[in-house]
Amino acid sequence: MNPVKVGICGLGTVGGGTFNVLKRNAEEIARRAGREIEVAQIAARRPNPKCETGETPLTADIFALADNPEIDIVVELIGGYTLARDLVLKAIDNGKHVVTANKALIAVHGNEIFARARAKGVIVAFEAAVAGGIPVIKAIREGLAANRIDWLAGIINGTGNFILSEMREKGRAFADVLQEAQALGYAEADPTFDVEGIDAAHKLTILASIAFGIPLQFDKAYTEGISRLTSADVGYAEALGYRIKHLGVARRTASGFELRVHPTLIPADRLIANVNGVMNAVMVHGDAVGSTLFYGSGAGMEPTASAVVADLVDVVRAMTSDPENRVPHLAFQPDSLSDHPILPIDACESAYYLRIQAKDHPGVLAQVATILSERGINIESIMQKEVEEHDGLVPMILVTHRVVEARIDDAISALESLEGVSGKVVRIRVEQLN
Ligand code: HSE
Repeated sequence: MNPVKVGICGLGTVGGGTFNVLKRNAEEIARRAGREIEVAQIAARRPNPKCETGETPLTADIFALADNPEIDIVVELIGGYTLARDLVLKAIDNGKHVVTANKALIAVHGNEIFARARAKGVIVAFEAAVAGGIPVIKAIREGLAANRIDWLAGIINGTGNFILSEMREKGRAFADVLQEAQALGYAEADPTFDVEGIDAAHKLTILASIAFGIPLQFDKAYTEGISRLTSADVGYAEALGYRIKHLGVARRTASGFELRVHPTLIPADRLIANVNGVMNAVMVHGDAVGSTLFYGSGAGMEPTASAVVADLVDVVRAMTSDPENRVPHLAFQPDSLSDHPILPIDACESAYYLRIQAKDHPGVLAQVATILSERGINIESIMQKEVEEHDGLVPMILVTHRVVEARIDDAISALESLEGVSGKVVRIRVEQLN
């Protein structure tokens, strides 16, 4: 049988890795796919020194691939929203299947792209868009298809986890670790996407859609990054038996779905609290299976290529099948998606870590307790440190039971207006994940 012809757009970290894996494992891949997979053309602005492309034709024009009649599958690895969208839509219009690692593209334009792909009967595969090399899309979409999924929570940004781990373990400075993540090819072109949680929100949007059967709604995800975390809070969290992780959380509730990315205290003895460096992990809780945990490299050249190539094998196997009988892009049949709303953050429910900088006066603790109790907020634990020499203030750290966010917002406003409280109250959400 003739080889399946693939065009790779973008020869950066993931593009280079994909070319190398396809070449190195060509024989094994053909045995799995039933046909050889040949890279017929590459579109790239410049060569990648980590990738020996030999005789493979190179072009600087990405659209040449989408127009090349020889090519069956376009692999989009250029990233970004605009050009990538144009390229993918053009490839689809030309009847080509698409494999992409682009989480931003899928989270923001996925509904449009999948509708167009359905109309043309082509596949758009995106395993590499979430959690690098971990096959979590396939696991949720196919492996957990029996379940009503209640919630999922994941460390889904390798750069952010690498930064938090290095800061906690080695006391390194934020900017220094970020630079290393960039040099290793983990960070996004715009690293604020990593540290401000946008990349994680893209991935969470995708996970929530395939877990709950809802349209992609990135604009409704709540996003908070790690750039304002202090080493003091990392230390106090440890003292209380928690680790701070940057978590994406999606939860089904009676009134809607929670979709939120933020720093989170997790009990230190949970497996996911011990996921460090660039590693990612996603917990998925289904009514039949209970809790599951998927772990692996969340970024990097070959881990991400592993997911891209697995998608290529899947596409090769399915390309001759009846489009109506393929696994739906978003796991659920497109006419069966739920319109249950995404909740605004003030309607979400969580437990909270609060750090209050109190003046060293009698009665402040009693006032704090009154404000919380008047709002029905139950305190789980409390820790008060000694007076800090530099400002004469006393850090007071509280962990609450679960409460709706609007109520904690109201309590924080009241706390900040107390004469005995200085400055802003630090608030970090807490999840038990059990
Ligand atoms: N910048 C992303 C991360 C790359 O650090 O996780 C993988 O999506």
